[in-house]
Amino acid sequence: MTPVVLRFSGLLLLAFELCGQQQPLPYSHKTHLALGLECKTCHKNPDPGELMEYPPESLCMSCHRAIKTDSPHIKKLAAAATEKKPIPWVRVYRLPPFVYFSHRVHAEARAACETCHGPVRERDVITKQVANDMRFCMTCHTASKARNDCAACHEER
Ligand code: HEC
Ligand code: HEC
Ligand code: HEC
Ligand code: HEC
Ligand code: HEC
Repeated sequence: MTPVVLRFSGLLLLAFELCGQQQPLPYSHKTHLALGLECKTCHKNPDPGELMEYPPESLCMSCHRAIKTDSPHIKKLAAAATEKKPIPWVRVYRLPPFVYFSHRVHAEARAACETCHGPVRERDVITKQVANDMRFCMTCHTASKARNDCAACHEER
């Protein structure tokens, strides 16, 4: 009996991972981008430019003070905004600490978000659709004649 139960719970866990159900709220890029919002409305790139920020809850509440206020998810969002406690979004893309990366440099080189993150606009749930591994980075650097010596990505900055 026990092994069957264990195997079943294993499958459930797998299903959870595949559906990416781990985010604290069922936020959908597909739904929100269909409203005409742009990436940069929510994802700011403050100086010095490495990081793309997550949006503040107050920005979400500019709409959700009036939209879906009965939803338990929106109640949670509203509470987070009032208490100024950011929603703990689970990271999808994460490089190891020995790799240097800057969003600003790539935005200025006109690399599209989709090249590295896939068709975000069509997704309810963001999963790691593009492997941002060394081969991926170096292939594009070769094609676009960017620096490709080891130190370009592995030197401390
Ligand atoms: C209404 C605000 C909003 C807009 C507009 C928006 N995003 Fe997001 N984005 C979020 C939130 C909230 C999260 C965290 C939850 C999640 O991962 O779905 C997120 C997460 C992400 C992540 C995952 C980051 C990580 O590694 O954890 C990527 C990539 C991303 N967004 C790309 C985009 C792109 C590309 C666009 C434009 C096509 C866009 N977003 C537009 C709010 C927004
Ligand atoms: C431009 C207005 C607007 C902004 C800004 C906005 N939303 Fe929404 N949101 C909507 C609309 C419209 C819906 C769909 C409502 C429906 O299904 O009828 C929605 C639906 C949702 C839902 C699904 C609620 C449910 O129970 O069905 C969640 C969760 C959500 N939004 C979270 C967020 C988060 C988190 C942010 C900020 C990162 C955000 N929204 C910013 C307009 C907005
Ligand atoms: C050249 C590839 C590339 C492009 C282009 C790119 N990203 Fe990223 N993004 C990454 C990588 C790699 C990470 C993980 C960074 C890390 O762990 O240091 C990441 C992480 C993120 C994160 C999580 C927070 C962070 O900065 O680590 C968000 C949100 C995000 N990207 C949104 C976007 C949006 C929006 C765009 C377009 C405006 C975009 N990205 C363009 C490669 C890219
Ligand atoms: C879409 C193509 C593309 C992808 C994918 C890409 N890059 Fe780049 N990257 C560029 C271009 C083009 C430049 C040069 C910009 C310039 O010189 O102005 C650049 C510059 C850089 C720089 C600055 C180098 C310097 O001149 O000092 C670093 C660091 C870097 N990329 C790291 C990465 C990493 C890490 C990844 C993978 C996670 C990656 N890049 C993926 C196109 C790309
Ligand atoms: C354009 C950026 C870029 C350049 C140039 C680059 N790397 Fe990397 N490197 C990465 C990224 C991104 C990772 C993380 C890979 C991952 O998470 O799968 C990585 C990982 C590594 C690792 C860890 C391997 C592993 O499997 O975890 C080593 C070792 C390494 N690089 C050595 C080098 C050497 C040596 C050079 C020069 C010949 C070099 N790298 C050039 C981006 C780069």
